[in-house]
Amino acid sequence: MNSLMIKALAFAVVLILATVAVVKGMNIDLSDPVNMLTMIGAIAIAIITAGVTTKYIGQMKSDKSSGELVGDRWDGIGEYKNELPSGWAYSFLGVIIWALWYWMVGYPVNAYSQIGEYNEETKAYNAKFEATFANPDQATLTSMGESVFLVQCAPCHGETADGLSGKAHNLTSRISKEQVLATIQKGSNQLGYAMGAMPPMLAQGADAEAVATYIAGGMKGTAPAIYSTCAACHGADGKGNNGAAPNLAAYDDTLVTHVLENGKKGSIGTMPSFKTRLTPVQEKALSTYIQTLQGAK
Ligand code: HEC
Ligand code: HEC
Repeated sequence: MNSLMIKALAFAVVLILATVAVVKGMNIDLSDPVNMLTMIGAIAIAIITAGVTTKYIGQMKSDKSSGELVGDRWDGIGEYKNELPSGWAYSFLGVIIWALWYWMVGYPVNAYSQIGEYNEETKAYNAKFEATFANPDQATLTSMGESVFLVQCAPCHGETADGLSGKAHNLTSRISKEQVLATIQKGSNQLGYAMGAMPPMLAQGADAEAVATYIAGGMKGTAPAIYSTCAACHGADGKGNNGAAPNLAAYDDTLVTHVLENGKKGSIGTMPSFKTRLTPVQEKALSTYIQTLQGAK
């Protein structure tokens, strides 16, 4: 045994001892097959490393040149005429074929993506949802509306829809006097009704007070004279002329849908749009639920 082999052996032993020390030190459980395999792998790597190093260092020390040299010399250094090793050639061909497969069938061209898979699953799930609730009855809508409300709307509107002491609209009644006054003063152009904007109204002082009190009170009794200026758009009964303008008397599907799709920025604050977050059935369910809060349905 020459000194090189002794050194290599000593090196392998040190590596193995270090591995054993780590296993002991970290209290690694070798009855676990994965740990055991890893340990065996580490020892194998230590032995192979020592063996391979010994072989090549030994070869470098003792090898004599043999075989045919190519004619060229580079700074006095020659090169043997060696055949291309067939194993290398086949793996090279294999890599080319694999690369073509990878581009065409595998990832880039035939792209698989987790986002795509998620989108497809969501689409399929939504279709199933639409099919299940194609013709929901009133009770189904109300309970669906309540569950969606408790998750999506309650954080701002409160579990009982009371608006959390003025942080958001109190949905148990249609509209407050302050909100009507604010709309009269500033107009409104955000809900996306076909009619478009409501310009600021001329009604002021006592007139504005009277009409706001009348609307906030649920439009009961005789309307103040000034209401006639509103009636042109909102209808004599305040119901919004079949969806041309918002229904001021009560919540209806049209109003809730417009608010959900466009969001709302008013005298209380800002409500975000839920446009991409709710399906049409869920919007209808929410509006049904809100209407049950008024005792309307
Ligand atoms: C020219 C037609 C028109 C007239 C006149 C009009 N409105 Fe409107 N009103 C609208 C439209 C359209 C909207 C919805 C605007 C939007 O998209 O934000 C609206 C919205 C409102 C809203 C907001 C509803 C909500 O839920 O936030 C209130 C309150 C209101 N109007 C009250 C009145 C009162 C009170 C008068 C009379 C003094 C009046 N409007 C006159 C067309 C009109
Ligand atoms: C981030 C808080 C927030 C969330 C979440 C929220 N809202 Fe609102 N909502 C508001 C605020 C603030 C207002 C009052 C806006 C204003 O000043 O007119 C409002 C107003 C409303 C109105 C009254 C609109 C009108 O014109 O009278 C309805 C209806 C409504 N929200 C329904 C919902 C529903 C249904 C959900 C759940 C899908 C919901 N909101 C989620 C904050 C929120």
